[in-house]
Amino acid sequence: MPVVEKVLEILEDNRGRSVSGNKIAQSLGVTRSAIWKAVTRLREDGYSVSAVTNRGYRLNDDNDMINEPAINAFLKTESLGRSIDIFKTIDSTNDFAKSRAHLGAEHGALIVADHQTAGKGRMGKRFHSPGRSGIYMSVIVRPKFSVEYAMAITSCTAVAVAEAIENVTGLSCGVKWVNDIYCNGKKLCGILTEASIGVEQGGLDYVVIGIGLNVSNAVFPRDLENIATSLRLETGKKFSRAQLIAEILNCLEKRLEEIPTHGYIDEYRRRSIFIGHDIIIRKNNAATKAKCLDIDNLGKLLVKYEDGTEAAISSGTVELAD
Ligand code: BTN
Repeated sequence: MPVVEKVLEILEDNRGRSVSGNKIAQSLGVTRSAIWKAVTRLREDGYSVSAVTNRGYRLNDDNDMINEPAINAFLKTESLGRSIDIFKTIDSTNDFAKSRAHLGAEHGALIVADHQTAGKGRMGKRFHSPGRSGIYMSVIVRPKFSVEYAMAITSCTAVAVAEAIENVTGLSCGVKWVNDIYCNGKKLCGILTEASIGVEQGGLDYVVIGIGLNVSNAVFPRDLENIATSLRLETGKKFSRAQLIAEILNCLEKRLEEIPTHGYIDEYRRRSIFIGHDIIIRKNNAATKAKCLDIDNLGKLLVKYEDGTEAAISSGTVELAD
């Protein structure tokens, strides 16, 4: 591990407290000037590190940089997030994760970025991904279950993300079928899962689960300001992105195990903002009104159209009619 990363680990473990440069140098077996260089490099990378005479260096509390030690401090998983790649800027963490998965990246590998230049949403849409504001993360999973459960991974992730948000912030969120987390009528988080089917085994080779969560955004571009929100706008508070990432993985690992038994689905139903409401289903340039009756065990939306016919919907865009 490079000295700069080791220094960061020590400062992160002592966040908010000063650690003497001498002590750090001794424990790493390097000179004090090497520690000074590492601190300079961390500052260039955007970390706020104070140097106090006779006391040493301190990683200030207001830092919300995403780094491995900070994630590991909250991570309780066995496999998710045990390999982590963090980028300052990337086009799309999902695209990078797919290329890594093709090359054989292991189950649970995590790719995170502070900023995305081409963040992707469902249906070819862009996902607004400014730096220092949100979480843009992709997890590679290699499921043992069959292709019919692919859709369940998105709904299961929605449950896990909603739970993680609640655990860390106390904010209660709903799920807008199939992949959005909502709070007070606005979108807080989107999920994009992309799967690759193994031709030989006929099952899922890998699935990339992409999660975009608005954390500290104070403003949104004009086209999003009435439909998007952030944890900061909803609570007036700041939260650690690293802690949220770790808690999302903690919740996701548990919930993914429940897919074959549909164990997560009751919680998905409970959080659904559609069940019992009139909705509009948009598909192939047509908009159809229906009532949402329920969600089945595979995450399909069970609806009743105005002509009385019923259907199970697995694709399209749906919104509340009222
Ligand atoms: C949606 O809102 O339709 C889904 C948004 C998914 C955004 C996340 S951000 C991390 C990952 N990388 C991407 O390019 N997209 C997903």
